[in-house]
Amino acid sequence: MARIIAIAIPKGGVGKTTTAVNLAASLAVAEQRTLLIDMDSSGAAGLSLGFTEGTIKTGMFEVFNFISRMNHAIHKTELSFLDIVPANVQTLQREERLMRLADNRAILRSALQGAAENYDYVIVDCPPFLRGLTTNALTAADSVIIPVKSGHFSLDAVDKFFKFIEWIRDVANKSLSVEGILLTMHEPNTRVTDITTRELHSKYRRFMFESVIPKNTALTEACFYGKPAILYNANSRGSGAYLSLAREIIAHSHEHRSLPRVQHHAHEIGQQA
Ligand SMILES: Nc1ncnc2c1ncn2[C@@H]1O[C@H](COP(=O)(O)OP(=O)(O)O)[C@@H](O)[C@H]1O
Ligand SMILES: [Mg+2]
Repeated sequence: MARIIAIAIPKGGVGKTTTAVNLAASLAVAEQRTLLIDMDSSGAAGLSLGFTEGTIKTGMFEVFNFISRMNHAIHKTELSFLDIVPANVQTLQREERLMRLADNRAILRSALQGAAENYDYVIVDCPPFLRGLTTNALTAADSVIIPVKSGHFSLDAVDKFFKFIEWIRDVANKSLSVEGILLTMHEPNTRVTDITTRELHSKYRRFMFESVIPKNTALTEACFYGKPAILYNANSRGSGAYLSLAREIIAHSHEHRSLPRVQHHAHEIGQQA
């Protein structure tokens, strides 16, 4: 059964989509069968892998409308271990309809039943708000990765998101855990970065990934050319950082699989700041 990981925080421009796409590609390169789900109606994750309007037949829009089953919305990518379900939301009318349907937070979870069996990992790219689509992703997920932009985050926003995750545990998904907090667009040795990173570590040390994503133009360029960084410039620092993140997550998964769920959950609550 796949490990379902949502990439979420209710904020835009922090590296959610870049993380979803490049983590999914790195897991695929490590020969983990991976499905990337584009839950943001802007379709940015699909675009980052070269899926434009003309190349998408069906996507999350059809899945949420019960027009298509998840299996029929899956598209192959250039990487043989990586598949994607694009958003396929081209108009504001479709976006409005998708938002309304997503008020039912259980749709993604039920749509993934069956489809997830064919994968080791399902990575869900979320929009920059909680309502509907992110709530669906957190209801379906085993864990969540929280990307924070190095030097430009507020601890208050991270605290609030942790509270929201606790609420989702209470009302919809008691086994949801925090996979980790990921520092993105990191530029070391600036005063603001050093101070804010220290603050984050002192409060959330146990949740911090060891891997840190540097600020790296190859990641932006790769996205522009519709490729994951590993296929655009495999030697770039950006693609190396996402490979390292994938290794950490694969190692975590082995631990999770050897630990009974209930025990893991108790362990995590105990760890919380
Ligand atoms: N590590 C990075 N280094 C440089 N640019 C980055 C990095 N991560 C993301 N970006 C760029 O920052 C912008 C926002 O990233 P994106 O992943 O789309 O954020 P989100 O999905 O949270 O809105 C994009 O233009 C992206 O190419
Ligand atoms: Mg995005």
